[in-house]
Amino acid sequence: MEELSGTKISKEILQELKQEVESLATQNIHPCLAVILVGDDPASAIYVKNKKKKCDQLGIKSVETVLPQDTTQEELLKVIDKYNEDPTVHGILCQVPLPPQCDEEQVIRRIKGQKDVDCFNPCNVGLLAAGTPRYMPCTPYGILQILKRSGHDTKGKCCVVLGRSNIVGRPLSIMMSLKGWDATVTLCHSKTSNLEKVCMRADILVAAIGIPHFVKKEHVKQGAIVIDVGINRIDDPTSKKGFKLVGDVDYENISDVAHAATPVPGGVGPMTITMLMYNTINAARLQSNLPKFEI
Ligand code: GUN
Repeated sequence: MEELSGTKISKEILQELKQEVESLATQNIHPCLAVILVGDDPASAIYVKNKKKKCDQLGIKSVETVLPQDTTQEELLKVIDKYNEDPTVHGILCQVPLPPQCDEEQVIRRIKGQKDVDCFNPCNVGLLAAGTPRYMPCTPYGILQILKRSGHDTKGKCCVVLGRSNIVGRPLSIMMSLKGWDATVTLCHSKTSNLEKVCMRADILVAAIGIPHFVKKEHVKQGAIVIDVGINRIDDPTSKKGFKLVGDVDYENISDVAHAATPVPGGVGPMTITMLMYNTINAARLQSNLPKFEI
């Protein structure tokens, strides 16, 4: 089974992005991402730190607002409004999940469509579904870049997506069915009947359900491409941290049947931040009336 390395493909794309940032600088355009972190979720804090680090590496400016766990909805909306009105800020990202007193949906809707580099705002999801995307959501677009850059065309293929989340499964299923990607898509979820049988039809199988090692060889057709979006923490007393990260796919178990698969870690994970950087660059271009930078 071939390993589809998101780490390697990420590096390739980041090099192209770095050049684009340098080229924009000569036109006095300096992409800037604002990141908002609310509360003390340790995983979110790590994600935010990594996003800032990646911005630094590319020469993208970043600003950050860290708010306490007991922040009110009004306080959070005020921060979003400030960044919405700041012309030097091109992209705004509010890390989710939010503490329970905050209304995630309202927060997402408050971020201006032009600055919504996550592509979570329904106005951008609508543009995507209409086939005229302003931005592409980071993880799904990262998956499509892995497929494209490893030579696995989606055109005419039967693609089965497991999981209908707003962040990954649903937008990915829409994107794969659009002109250009041209896949025949089935979106499965917890109520899907005969799941193994449906998965067995897939030329490309994407697992985004958040259940460790759920996908086994019984789900995988001979020669299929398997994309693992899962990042599940499971207890591991032998690790220094006390846990390890495993995917939604039992990688060893499928290795005799699948043609290729993404590992965890080092598969889809690194692509998400890379595509966020891509969207931030395009946010700066869009707000400077320049056409999209295509990769
Ligand atoms: N939480 C987990 N993934 C993401 C993401 O891509 N964007 C935001 N804003 N929050 C997240």
